[in-house]
Amino acid sequence: MIRRQLEEFMRRMAPKSVAIIPGAHDTRRSNDTHYRFRQDSDFFYLTGFEEPDSLAVIKPEAEKRYTLFVRPRDPEREIWDGRRAGIEGAKSEFGAEESFPIAEFESKLAEFLDGADVLYYRLGVDSDLDNKIIQEISRMRSLNRKPIHPPETIIDPATIVHEMRVLKSEDEIAIMQASADIAAEAHCEAMKAVRPGMQEYQIEALIEQIFRRHGASGPAYTSIVGGGPNATVLHYINNDGELRDGDLLLLDAGAEYKGYASDITRTFPINGRYTKAQRDIYDLVLKAQMSCVKMVRPGVTHDQLKQHSIEVLTEGMVELGLLKGKTEELIKEKKYEKFYMHGLGHMLGIDVHDVGRYYYGTESRALEPGVVMTVEPGIYIAPDTKDVPDKYLGIGVRIEDDVLCTNNGPRVLTTKVPKHAEEIEELMNQ
Ligand code: GLY
Ligand code: MN
Ligand code: MN
Repeated sequence: MIRRQLEEFMRRMAPKSVAIIPGAHDTRRSNDTHYRFRQDSDFFYLTGFEEPDSLAVIKPEAEKRYTLFVRPRDPEREIWDGRRAGIEGAKSEFGAEESFPIAEFESKLAEFLDGADVLYYRLGVDSDLDNKIIQEISRMRSLNRKPIHPPETIIDPATIVHEMRVLKSEDEIAIMQASADIAAEAHCEAMKAVRPGMQEYQIEALIEQIFRRHGASGPAYTSIVGGGPNATVLHYINNDGELRDGDLLLLDAGAEYKGYASDITRTFPINGRYTKAQRDIYDLVLKAQMSCVKMVRPGVTHDQLKQHSIEVLTEGMVELGLLKGKTEELIKEKKYEKFYMHGLGHMLGIDVHDVGRYYYGTESRALEPGVVMTVEPGIYIAPDTKDVPDKYLGIGVRIEDDVLCTNNGPRVLTTKVPKHAEEIEELMNQ
């Protein structure tokens, strides 16, 4: 049985075309050890096949439409690295109509290319494979006095597969909900466990223990555990600082579950009570965040959402004395970027920063039912910032939820972790 995604991909391919979709390879960590293998996201989406050194050839008008090149069975290697599906398993377990050892790909390449007007292949990812394919096309072209017909056009398969990935199916949404539930539980447990004097890595260990305990492969991205001023460093991942009484902890962590990411940020007081100054910033970020979440519905563009967050935050920052001047002028001159310097959010799926276009020409993309995106405004006031009230120095706040766009408005996948300051304090002081 060919999986639904692959059938749809074939349906969208041009007449007389072939697609070459490679999987990922093992990545060396040091000397002779490797990172845990993670499949290429497009390959995983189309095939569900999770072994390294695999490659799919899809040719809808051929007798065998779907061919998988895989690592053959190898009793000796399988003692060390585990079971392989092999040539037979690729067909019987993964629905390939034909299968060969990966080592035979080059020798079969001309056969696949011949007669296809269009080749779908993503150039620029694997230069070795790029070269093999280009050289084969070049060789075939030179045989122009024979009935041999190499592709005339090369199209990025992302034009199909990334756009498919943007709109999540019911099955995908169920997995993403499960991924979000795991991450939400981890955030709640972190809120309950954190104490002054702990180390950031202890919170990292706690949340990632919960991810694994629920069957997630691990974090979907390196967890950000930033106490105090570390919260003002956007991509802080050292996670080796002390968590101090009176400071906030910014925790940005999500799980990768059955191949799908969740992505949650909460910012909470290490001693269980926000200070007045922290609440000023926190409540403003929350106001912007909730207001943007409410706007998530079909037809609203990413730019409109970002613009709305800018308006709410800038107005609030003027009231707090972080910015001085007229709100409209400050927005026009992008003065908010001193404290709010990133996007409002991003699409979410197999990749945490998921694929899909954000612009058509200069037009911002509109949301559609089935899009999952994050909504994550923040305010970051680095400790050495000039011209701001001292009480705000070193405060960083981000609040991030995962939101599914539906015809009935937003469906927040991450409601199981509180985000109102009072609710967070209540959970922390149980
Ligand atoms: N954790 C990455 C992000 O929030 O975009
Ligand atoms: Mn995040
Ligand atoms: Mn995010």
